[in-house]
Amino acid sequence: MSTHSQPRTDTGGPDVVLVRGASVLGERTADLLLRDGVVAAVGGPGELGDTDGARVVDADGMVALPGLVDLHTHLRQPGREDAETVASGSRAAAVGGYTAVLAMANTTPVTDTAEAAEHVHDLGVAAGLVDVHPVGAVTRGLGGEELAELGLMHRSRAAVKVFSDDGRCVANPRVMRRALEYVKAFGGVISQHSQDPDLAGPTACCHEGELSGRLGLPGWPGVAEEVVVARDVMLARHTGSRVHVAHASTAGTVEVLRWAKAQGYPVTAEVTPHHLLLTTDLLATANGGYDPTYKVNPPLRPEEDVLALREALADGTIDVVATDHAPHARHDKQHAFVDAAFGMLGLETALSVVASVMVEPGLLTWADVARVMSSRPAEIAGLDRQGRGLEVGAPANLVLVDPSADITVDRDASVSLSRNNPYDGRRFGAAVRATFLRGTPTVLDGALV
Ligand code: DOR
Ligand code: ZN
Repeated sequence: MSTHSQPRTDTGGPDVVLVRGASVLGERTADLLLRDGVVAAVGGPGELGDTDGARVVDADGMVALPGLVDLHTHLRQPGREDAETVASGSRAAAVGGYTAVLAMANTTPVTDTAEAAEHVHDLGVAAGLVDVHPVGAVTRGLGGEELAELGLMHRSRAAVKVFSDDGRCVANPRVMRRALEYVKAFGGVISQHSQDPDLAGPTACCHEGELSGRLGLPGWPGVAEEVVVARDVMLARHTGSRVHVAHASTAGTVEVLRWAKAQGYPVTAEVTPHHLLLTTDLLATANGGYDPTYKVNPPLRPEEDVLALREALADGTIDVVATDHAPHARHDKQHAFVDAAFGMLGLETALSVVASVMVEPGLLTWADVARVMSSRPAEIAGLDRQGRGLEVGAPANLVLVDPSADITVDRDASVSLSRNNPYDGRRFGAAVRATFLRGTPTVLDGALV
């Protein structure tokens, strides 16, 4: 793909972009005129006529999708600016094709007040590359007992609608019930890190199974996730309020979700790219074994869980893909496996992973990718200016994907401040080439503008 800046004329300006020859949702070839932050015109190839002054972006061979929306991002600011900042995480998001991210609350201090939420929101506006929506904590200090300022966070400038103690489970059912009742008044949603702390035990660090026994590592049984999902769908039924299951990771969770959705209960779920691609045996095989790059919570699971998650995403049982981008400074990862921090990078590679495990085998079309990575996440988070179709009048948030790229991930080429990239050295056949936020390119030719 190449870009050409043409001389300015009276009819155009720096903010007018003509995206030429893109395959919209992989379905039909069109030219898109982006002006004043919206899609101003859509036409067949060459149909838009006189667009003098527009910056022309040649999108021949590219698939155009609405800008991606990530329901689950850790940006680490305030508190761990050595691992990521709102600005660096925004850069990683833009490179990954995102135009909006939800920034998790487990920062230092925790996002549990209106002021804290507004601070993250304002940092996002200042970075200016993606819309940054702070997630509010469910409980004060993520302590699991006392509700955080849910209403004040919602009424703040940050207009928080998604609440989560992510990193920890809201284990107390009374607290979960009260939180659901509270956020129902304003259409909020509780995103739950489903993991019974008593079933899992404090030292668990990988999937409990035959392999964890062999490696001598304490494991989490899949059922520690499943019992909380089962409890929460019943609380969703009881309260009529929305539960969102963060990073679903087991076949048993899929079964519960399938049942709950068939009953019509207000529950949605996400799966991460890493749980769709990577399996627990990497703990034995990758880089000589025990590589903390693959330490994540919930843990990588066996193949049968991975296959169930793919099927559930394909049939709509799982609504969306969310990254759980979890940057960690080198000194927090470079430890013995049991002592290293949990989490892996995800923003820059999510689209390539989803293309390889879902689109290439025919489990999802590009239009489905737009649904699971953009429109459904926007709906769940209540973002009405994101995730919209590429139609006249819609906000010009879009991503151009090369569906026949050949890329090899290089963790040192990341724009994140961290290097805990589990895909280093892997090849993928699709890649984000350009991202536009309200008509302004943030990424062109695969690089930040
Ligand atoms: O692996 C994880 N990392 N899982 C979580 O739930 C939290 C996250 C983090 O904040 O690093
Ligand atoms: Zn989590």
